Amino acid sequence: MSFNFNIPINSRNTNSAKWDRYAKDILPMHVAVMDFAISPAITERIQNRLSHPVYGYTMPSKQLYDTLLQWVETEFHYKIFADWLVLLEGIVPALGVSATILPGDVITTTPNYHALLHAPLRAGKNVIQVPLKNDNEHYSFDFDALEEAITPNTKFFYLCNPHNPVGRMYTKEELLEVSAFAQKHDLIVVSDEIHCELAFDRVHIPFYTVDEYAKNHSITFTAIGKTYNMPGVNFAFAVIPNPDIKKLFQEKSYALSRPGIFNQEAAIGAYAYSLQWKHELLVYLRENRDYLENELKTKFPLAKFPHVEGTYLQWVNFNAYHPNANSSFFEKEAKIAFTNGANFGDENYIRINFACTRDTLEEAVTRLEHVLLPNKLAV
Ligand SMILES: Cc1ncc(COP(=O)(O)O)c(C=O)c1O
Repeated sequence: MSFNFNIPINSRNTNSAKWDRYAKDILPMHVAVMDFAISPAITERIQNRLSHPVYGYTMPSKQLYDTLLQWVETEFHYKIFADWLVLLEGIVPALGVSATILPGDVITTTPNYHALLHAPLRAGKNVIQVPLKNDNEHYSFDFDALEEAITPNTKFFYLCNPHNPVGRMYTKEELLEVSAFAQKHDLIVVSDEIHCELAFDRVHIPFYTVDEYAKNHSITFTAIGKTYNMPGVNFAFAVIPNPDIKKLFQEKSYALSRPGIFNQEAAIGAYAYSLQWKHELLVYLRENRDYLENELKTKFPLAKFPHVEGTYLQWVNFNAYHPNANSSFFEKEAKIAFTNGANFGDENYIRINFACTRDTLEEAVTRLEHVLLPNKLAV
């Protein structure tokens, strides 16, 4: 291994949304950012560009487009074209814009990443929320409930894959079912795939690759923020194979800002030059996932939680140990900040970010034991 993810990095006093939000005695495991240093190839590219002292308006380079096309081909064995792409600074604003390209409302599933619920809502759309089927903590689409909830005015299906917060990576069969449902109701699928490289159990399948309907009726987003740990360096992009939908999206996103020169360099550094770093990151994250899952199973057998197939986020219900085991309870009693499940549409759960050093994760488990199993520790 050439990269050591086990080294603690002090991020306090850097205006970190993770480390500077809570008091110093709180272990922050909430917002979806990792505690690891980024790939050195990215730093190098940014530094190179920094050393030229003119930071003017920029045009995306051919190298950038080639990098994105090559990345899709290498990762997903699928060929896309530069004129399918729209470069963006972030996915959240684009989730709002997507819902405005045509009249009609949004249907989506819960729990779900809050911006999939709120961005279209703030853009003036109704958002029909349909719970995922929860079969003993295996989450899947409930097409009967979706059929029941959909209205003739619904135009968009918002999909999160890999799914934050439940950690599902949807199979080809499931995505084909989403495509068939969308075709039946004449929907455009807006697929948020920001976690697509954080895949443990199977390879990720971009929505636009599953069939012709999906290809011609979708907007798919991804970004460097999660996998390359740079949500503070804004670079995202949309893949929109259908030129009519792309045109509508571009018109409505006219006023969105575009990635700047350093963000573009970061994207090239990430997608073209950080393969080994990513490979080693995934080994480390997988071990953290397995460790946490095993600790939950053995130490907290009454906790309810899904197996994480992708993302570095563990969704957990500890209500069997405390009647109100929400994020405020854990912040106060265990001195750990988790994300509250209510943000995603289910107040019975909390979300644990396990993209930290193993020591941090072990410390979190110890704090949980003290709070949830006080009698066991006393004997
Ligand atoms: C599913 C999902 N989409 C989007 C984002 C944020 O995207 P961006 O920072 O590009 O706006 C996150 C951040 O956690 C996320 O989990």
